[in-house]
Amino acid sequence: MTRRPLMAGNWKMNLTHLEAIALVQKLAFSLNDDDLEKVEVAVLPPFTDIRSVQTLIDADRYNIAYGAQDLSQHDSGAYTGDISGAMLAKLGCTYVVVGHSERREYHAETDELVAAKIKAAYKHELTPILCVGEPLEVRQENRHVEHTLAQLDGALDGLGAAQAASIVVAYEPVWAIGTGEVATPDDAQEMAAAIRERLAKLYSAEVAAGVRILYGGSVKAANVKPIMEQPDVDGALVGGASIVADEFALIARYH
Ligand code: G3P
Repeated sequence: MTRRPLMAGNWKMNLTHLEAIALVQKLAFSLNDDDLEKVEVAVLPPFTDIRSVQTLIDADRYNIAYGAQDLSQHDSGAYTGDISGAMLAKLGCTYVVVGHSERREYHAETDELVAAKIKAAYKHELTPILCVGEPLEVRQENRHVEHTLAQLDGALDGLGAAQAASIVVAYEPVWAIGTGEVATPDDAQEMAAAIRERLAKLYSAEVAAGVRILYGGSVKAANVKPIMEQPDVDGALVGGASIVADEFALIARYH
């Protein structure tokens, strides 16, 4: 099965809505139709930028997808500060990141909450980009595969095959995020293969063969190619390098 690679830029808490417009415009000018046919490119701005990004992409018909970095597990109600899947769907979002390690660490998000957020995303026809990955001490103890697969099991708990078939899983080892220390292509492949194998066990070989598995953690134009050459790696979730238009465009044109 051919899986179309996905290069997704997680802007994290960066860029005002005006800066967001400038970045998306620059990105669109740096990528041609051919690039965007080979690779799907998505931006994941902060909530405050999404409306502006939507307006620009719609008006200029840019072939760039967009989404959010988080959502509430609830649909509406007295949840001060939260944003629902319904609101994101109304803004035309395709993707939503769920379970990023920064949410797990700074907002105490558990696997149970991640599983509820995944269900909320599907309820509103958003595609979750589920993040999993181990901290440094777990890798040092050589428990990284078991740790990451346990997060995967927890996040997918109760999710049916029809929905799991369209999920995107991002393997982001915590020690590689924002550190400049990228995982080796072999590390990325080892985990992507383990995730795919687990998906086959939980669902079916067919579901596993169709799911896109991304690598995230200090991805740059200079290191993306050998990672993308791994058979089970289908794209990248890019943080810091995605808020520099030229650099992100080079990542998307890694061929
Ligand atoms: O979600 C992307 C991410 O956590 C990786 O960040 O800055 O290391 O590319 P960065």
